[in-house]
Amino acid sequence: MQLKEKPDYKEIDAIMTQYTEPEHLIRILQKVQDIYGYLSEDVQIYIADKLKIPVSEVNGVVTFYSLFSTKPKGKHIIGVCLGTACYVKGANDILKKLKSELKINEDETTKDGVFTLRATRCIGACGLAPVITIGDDVHGRINADDIPRILEKYGDSG
Ligand code: FES
Repeated sequence: MQLKEKPDYKEIDAIMTQYTEPEHLIRILQKVQDIYGYLSEDVQIYIADKLKIPVSEVNGVVTFYSLFSTKPKGKHIIGVCLGTACYVKGANDILKKLKSELKINEDETTKDGVFTLRATRCIGACGLAPVITIGDDVHGRINADDIPRILEKYGDSG
């Protein structure tokens, strides 16, 4: 695979002066993701090219480890717990409401880059079910009607 145009990835070049061997791949990917927030296809091609290894090898690592993301992430990550306790208390309605309010599906990011929506497993706060997390904040015992008010807090100023 070839890049359409030669991108200017000075930050990646800087990282790869320190980490030069294919066995450093995971470390390189972590550092690059720290900068860009995710690992686009172009970035994967660029790294593969510099390490002189197949892109499929880079992509294999990126897709194997859940810590790596190939899609841009929003400023706030919303996690909707779909564990049993939350599910029986209406987590699905909350997820639906979030999708319609934000006009995105799970694992997508709003156009303005503010929110990414994820479904999660039990986060160990079942006593507060149903629960959503926004960044490090936990919002418990909520219902779908609370969603607009909660999102407002994180909107433009968040
Ligand atoms: S099931 Fe949602 S916090 Fe446990």
